[in-house]
Order: sequence, then structure tokens, then C-alpha cells
Amino acid sequence: MSEEPAAPKKGLVTATWIDTLAVLGQVAAPTFAKGPIIRRPKAVALVEWLNLDAKAVERLQTLRDKYGTGPVLLPIPGRPEAVILDGDQARRILEAGPEPFSPDSREKNAALGHFEEKASLVSSPDERKKRRAFNARVLEEACPVHSLAATMMRMVDEEIAALVESCGEEMTWDAFFASWNRIVRRTVLGDGAADDEALTEQLEELRSAANWAFLHPRKEAVSDSFHDAIISHLARADKGSLAESISFRNGDDTAAAHQVAHYLFAFDPGGMTTFRALGLLAAHPEAMARAAQEASGGDDRDLRFLRACIVETLRLYPTTPAILRETTEDVECEGGVLEEGTGVLIFAPFFHRDDTLHKDAHRFDPDAWLGIDPERRPPFVPFSAGPAVCPARHFVPMIASAAIASLLRRRKVVLLRPDLPAEKLPGTLNNYRQVFRLEPLGT
Ligand code: HEM
Repeated sequence: MSEEPAAPKKGLVTATWIDTLAVLGQVAAPTFAKGPIIRRPKAVALVEWLNLDAKAVERLQTLRDKYGTGPVLLPIPGRPEAVILDGDQARRILEAGPEPFSPDSREKNAALGHFEEKASLVSSPDERKKRRAFNARVLEEACPVHSLAATMMRMVDEEIAALVESCGEEMTWDAFFASWNRIVRRTVLGDGAADDEALTEQLEELRSAANWAFLHPRKEAVSDSFHDAIISHLARADKGSLAESISFRNGDDTAAAHQVAHYLFAFDPGGMTTFRALGLLAAHPEAMARAAQEASGGDDRDLRFLRACIVETLRLYPTTPAILRETTEDVECEGGVLEEGTGVLIFAPFFHRDDTLHKDAHRFDPDAWLGIDPERRPPFVPFSAGPAVCPARHFVPMIASAAIASLLRRRKVVLLRPDLPAEKLPGTLNNYRQVFRLEPLGT
């Protein structure tokens, strides 16, 4: 194999085969191994042990040092992929959707098609309009405080109270996640879905197949039964849950069950982020004191500092590391033309943890997000940006901050493991390994 750059494609900087293999091995492979749709705890542990998340960022820094800010084309046969290495360029691409940079990339479509083939993210531009609008309305994307917040805060508080009771002195991921899933089912589908663990299990089964995208046959029977269950929960339109809004906002083309399948799926990284944020707070006593002070205020609808902690946790540990686009036509860009059908990779950790550009890249600094819409702090894209930006970018921090506040009102939270050195946080924070001691307040 030659170390010479391969023949440039219409002027684009094109990586050598060796560099292409290095990016595939050090950036794509660990992301795929951890599980793009549902995490595989053993793979996460291996990635943590081998420090592969930090190495992925270093690999892309090396690529930028060698080729410039790109885009750099990886000449993968049948699927050329352009890697974006400049924050402004990443923003411009995200803004330019769904055409010519479509969020409905082949990979995403193959993966999400296992359980939500009509979700807005993987819909054609025409279908997407109504589905995106539906999501924006149900999730009230422009509002920092959702109109159903008061009832939802009560649901969160009840579940966290029960969690604290059941945990005793130690809280593990499994205990937390079981409560989190109850919060998710109640806030999305209503109190009538609180005990429907089978629904969450079906979704997990479908997501496990989705991890393999094209490589796994679809589980049509499980998917049908999962969608039927969602529809019957939605039909109750339980008061105070998103189902209440959906009952009167549902039109024919919105494919509500598919959008809701996405909500249930996407809440899972919300749980990971909440648990990680708790770990980061416990490792930063000053921030923890501010959070506890805010939590004691009594109104959980707008916990500004805790919300900033959630978004900062997502900057450090983005749960959608690979933001994918696909060109729908030939596109002129810096350095050349991206041909129609080219994949585009915006690797969020590269921008979020680029210590050559941000001196505090590896530190926990929630203040930097205070009062800022999580969509608008370049070059950070925890919730993506542009027309496909996460419509739950306020909703998720609202629920997650309320869960932490509820916990901090009941217990002092001490992180038993892993060690989190505040001066340089690790590339991976393995939520499955986190364990907390819950102590009575005032100790
Ligand atoms: C930590 C939690 C979450 C993170 C980090 C997150 C992040 C993202 C990102 C990065 C995208 C855009 C992907 C792209 O540009 O290709 C997205 C889209 C989306 N998210 Fe979230 N999300 C989270 C939770 C949620 C939740 C809980 C919901 C619903 C209750 C939700 C609803 C959506 C929807 C409907 C879309 C598709 C938007 C569209 O098609 O235009 N997300 N999310």
C-alpha cells in the first residue's frame, strides 16, 4: 500500500489507504463496537480500558495536522466518506439540510429502520416536514419549560423517592436505570405505562438488532407488537404525559407511533447522561454544593445550573458521537466537490475535546453553558444543529435536572467509583461501572 495520497476526487483532499484504515480502526470501529443504537456494556468497558475514546480524538487531530481542515475524503469503495474537521464547516453542513445534506443517511436508515422506519430523522424531505413539525410541537422545542412540566416533575420526584428507598446506601446503574425507565414511560406514555417493562424490553431487543443495521434481519413480529403497544398507550392520552399532547396533535402522515418509538429510544442516553452528570458533580464538590443549593429551591422546572451541568456532561461525553449526513447531489465545498451519495461524518468528540483549540477541553465547566441554548455554542454539537437539531434539547435537560435535584434533596451523593480526576477527565465515563454511596443529608 502506498503512503502517497490517493488520486484526488474533483479536487478534494483524499486520505491515503493507510490513513483511511487508521480512521476506520480508531474512530469508526470503537463507536460501532460500543453500539450505535444500544450500548454493549462489555465493549464500553473495553473501550474505557484501552482509552479508545481519547485515541479516536487524537487520530482525527493527526488527520487534520496532515491534511488540513478538510473535508478529508476517505476513499472507501462503494461508500466514500468525508470527514469534517472544522467547526464552522460542521455547522454549515448541519444547517444545510435536509438537502443537500440529508440526515437520512444509508447507515442511519438501516439502523433505525428496525424499529422506527417512519421517524422524522429517516424520512424523505417531504414526509419529514410534517413529522419534524409534529415532534417540535409535542416536545415544545422552543420552550425551556414544557407546558406539562408541573405533572412531569411530580412523576420524576415520585420515582426518585422510590429509588432512594429501594437503594439503601448504594446506588448502581441497574437500580438507577430501572427507575429512569419508569420516568420515561410515565412522562412519554402516562401513568398507565409505568409498569410496562415488557415494552422497554421489546425496544431493547429491537435496538440490539438495529446495532447491526443492514447486517441483521428485521424482527417484524416484535416490531409490530411494540408499535401496537405504543398505540394502545397513546390511546389513553394520560393526563400530564406527552401522550396527552399527541392525542390532539396527531395527523395521518405523522406516524405518531414511530416518532414516539424514537422518544423512548432517545431517552436512554438521557439516563446515561443524568448518571454521568451526577458522577461529575460528585467529583467537583463546589459544583455539587451549587447544585444542592439550587435543588433546595423547590421549583424544579427551571434549574438553570443543573441544566447547564447536563449539557456540559454531553459536551464531555456526547451520546450521539457520530452525526451522519449524506449528500443528495454534488456539492461544492472547501477544496472541491462532494459527489452525490457521499457520506459525511461529523464526529462530535473531536470538536468537543479538541485540546489544541480549547484549553479547558477536558474539564467540567457547566458555567460556560449558563443561559445558552444547547444548540448555540460553536463548535459544540451535543444535540446536533440546524433543521435536524434535537427537538428535545430543552426537554431532556429539564427532566434530567429534575431527577438530580430530587435525589440531592434526599441524600448526599458520594461517587465510589470510578475515579474522576477533575484536572483531566478521561475520554470515557463508563456509566455501567459508576457506583454511588447515598448518605443522609447533613453528614
Ligand atoms: C441525552 C439525550 C439526547 C441527545 C444527546 C440527543 C441528541 C440528538 C441528536 C444529536 C439529534 C440529531 C441527529 C442528527 O443530526 O442526525 C437528535 C434528533 C432527535 N431527537 Fe434527540 N437526543 C436526546 C434525547 C432525545 C429525547 C429524550 C427525545 C424525545 C423525547 C428526542 C427526540 C429527538 C427527535 C424527534 C429527533 C429527530 C429530529 C429530526 O428528525 O429533525 N431526543 N437528538
